[in-house]
Amino acid sequence: MCGIVGILGRHEVAPLLVEALKRLEYRGYDSAGIATVNQGRLDRRRAVGKLINLSDRLVHEPLAGKAGIGHTRWATHGAATEANAHPHRAGPVAVVHNGIIENFRDLRAELAAAGYPARTETDTETVALLAQMFIDRGLPPVQAAQQTLHRLHGAFALCFLFEGEDDLIIAARKGSPLAIGHGEGEMYVGSDAIALAPLTDRITYLEEGDWALITRAGATIHDAAGRLANRPETRIQIDSARIEKAGYRHFMAKEIAEQPVVLADALRHYAGAEGSLRLPADMDFSRVDRLVLVACGTAGYAGQVAKYWFEQIAGLPCDVDIASEFRYRDPVLSPASWAVFISQSGETADTLAALRHARDRVARIVAVVNVPTSSIARESDVVLPILAGVEVGVASTKAFTAQLMMLALMALKAGVDRGRLDAAGLAAHLDALRALPGLMNHALGLERDIARLAENLAEAQDILFLGRGAMFPLALEGALKLKEISYIHAEGYASGELKHGPIALIDARVPVIVLAPRDALFEKTVSNMQEVMARHGRVVLLSDAAGIEAAGQGIWRALRLPETTPLAAPILYAVPAQLIAYHTAIAKGTDVDQPRNLAKSVTVE
Ligand code: G6P
Repeated sequence: MCGIVGILGRHEVAPLLVEALKRLEYRGYDSAGIATVNQGRLDRRRAVGKLINLSDRLVHEPLAGKAGIGHTRWATHGAATEANAHPHRAGPVAVVHNGIIENFRDLRAELAAAGYPARTETDTETVALLAQMFIDRGLPPVQAAQQTLHRLHGAFALCFLFEGEDDLIIAARKGSPLAIGHGEGEMYVGSDAIALAPLTDRITYLEEGDWALITRAGATIHDAAGRLANRPETRIQIDSARIEKAGYRHFMAKEIAEQPVVLADALRHYAGAEGSLRLPADMDFSRVDRLVLVACGTAGYAGQVAKYWFEQIAGLPCDVDIASEFRYRDPVLSPASWAVFISQSGETADTLAALRHARDRVARIVAVVNVPTSSIARESDVVLPILAGVEVGVASTKAFTAQLMMLALMALKAGVDRGRLDAAGLAAHLDALRALPGLMNHALGLERDIARLAENLAEAQDILFLGRGAMFPLALEGALKLKEISYIHAEGYASGELKHGPIALIDARVPVIVLAPRDALFEKTVSNMQEVMARHGRVVLLSDAAGIEAAGQGIWRALRLPETTPLAAPILYAVPAQLIAYHTAIAKGTDVDQPRNLAKSVTVE
């Protein structure tokens, strides 16, 4: 899983390729590379690690040329070495690839027997070798690429560049997204429109099975059956300025701080001041018999929180599934149910595959996404953009709370449609949500206390997060955030479940972070905290003033949050959970925005 880019330009392309790759680094940063054709000659530069290493190499070993392709890698097949870095070259062909070639072992054996042995551990190299073999057999580059594509199984986005061809890129999409950009006498191709945003806002998306012959004069697109395909050109709006750190030390810090504004904007967009909801008119939950929420990672935890809301507020039965499990376990889906796919990027391969599985089995497919031009959005019946703006930090923050906001509004709509929520009830919930941006600012004000606490947390080997009700999935999210960026082992548990096993882990070295606003379940959580403290566990209580007061003696640290309602609490408490992860990572000196082994958008299964 990786980011790819290609440019047929009027000027030197190396700096532009690197700039575009910078915008794709969220897809992986194990290695990076570019290849260009300069006066007919194909050449490449690659470097292990982040893009900066490639930039440094290009300073000493520049690469000239006005046609080129580039790649930033998240390793699947083969370690993060220079030999395994893309572009992969075989004779007159260079290839960049996002996805997995599933039949690469068979192809590799066949190629070796034909005199084209592999030199790397990657699946991608077989693509370059196949194209080389077809060229050696006398096929021109375009036909060689076409024949190569016929032989590939799996999910991929590919770009081919050829020796001797200054005005040709072949691009193909099967499973992994690819966008073609149109310039003035220039053409571009990239894994997403964001990568191309500084170059053009005129985008054509390739569809499943398409391949495109790209020259500076334009792109000729063919569908899976080889017929000419007419794919529309759209103008996209991407505010490049928002992809800056704006004075913050990390994107994650900026994105945490943006949350009050993001949520206020989303509310203005989706809820009228007079207490009404502005969701699509045909989104009527009254006849829906069941909801299934499907997502991965942080988006999955947003779904788990929303399950409590849909069931409590709207009486609507709700299942939550991890996308990678959903389609392989033969889920029993009611034809009157709706399936909701939650994804920041809208490109997560598991979530997209789950969507396709659900396609003809449910009444409606709903997308809750941050990128409205994404594959998941484009394949859904109803799209609800969460309006969080570009999220760069690999650990999702503002997209999580914006997903929660969107799902809360959907649950309220479901409550109204199903006669469970009257106008006064809706107005009260909306008031609580409208108070959230202000309350979040209070929560952000805890940052200094949290930074001090994090100095201690950074020394822990294991940290537990506890929560009850809708705060339980938030405990899972708090633990995920912490392990993602601080590399400390952390687990989230339902408070009541602690005594059924995890309590064996507790001793004086294990901090236990309890997310517990003073609500109907609070007393029970206090009992669970007592169980921890009786075993010398160090309790960090996140609660409101009443909760901290009621919790009594023995708590190691308390963080006081403003009072809020059960609907708004998981959204508010996400902020200190994020700050705990952020400052613990800072205290440990890890790479906050690009933690090891992770990628922001996971486009392989
Ligand atoms: C990756 C990211 C997570 C994210 C998950 C789902 O694993 O590291 O932060 O939650 O993908 O991504 P999506 O774009 O579908 O929300």
